Amino acid sequence: MKQKRERDRLMGHADEADGIEEYDNALPDWWLGLFWFCIIWAAAYALHYHVIADRSQVRRLAAEMAAAEQRWPAAAVPATFAPTPELAAAGEAVFKTNCIACHGADLHGGIGPNLTDEVWIHGGEPEQVLKTITEGVAAKGMPTWGPILGPEKIRQVAAYVLAQKGK
Ligand code: HEC
Repeated sequence: MKQKRERDRLMGHADEADGIEEYDNALPDWWLGLFWFCIIWAAAYALHYHVIADRSQVRRLAAEMAAAEQRWPAAAVPATFAPTPELAAAGEAVFKTNCIACHGADLHGGIGPNLTDEVWIHGGEPEQVLKTITEGVAAKGMPTWGPILGPEKIRQVAAYVLAQKGK
């Protein structure tokens, strides 16, 4: 037979604790049961997560990103680009709306660099300018315009920029 535990014995430190008394009872069995259950559950869960089911948040994110890439493929930058005066004319409005805050109305620069001189950080070939505008330079504060403007407006504004060379 289970021995009855001694119960409700006072610890006797009321005088040290502003009159607050405390029992020296054992923790209730339901509480201890829950305590051990949680520890065993955690160990079993960790074993299941990492070893048996072999799950991983990193791989799950990678899979989600791959699925998103399938569903919404990033617009590829065209390999060739031939600017025309028509595209350049259409690009002026796009530039005025989106770009002058950083590159200036005359394209001579400000927050962003001068776009009319001979010096190009990312290359001055039509394809390179198109690529820089589409992908942006996140680390330097040049926005990624691809998803914002779409391929047609990007072609227009790139043609406009290229047509301002030397102005
Ligand atoms: C928020 C400010 C900002 C806006 C708005 C902005 N740019 Fe830029 N842009 C920059 C910065 C900063 C750089 C320099 C990036 C670097 O140093 O690598 C840059 C670089 C560039 C370059 C490359 C220049 C080179 O020398 O290679 C081109 C081309 C360009 N921007 C075009 C545009 C066009 C077109 C728009 C409008 C659709 C635009 N930018 C809007 C900040 C901006």
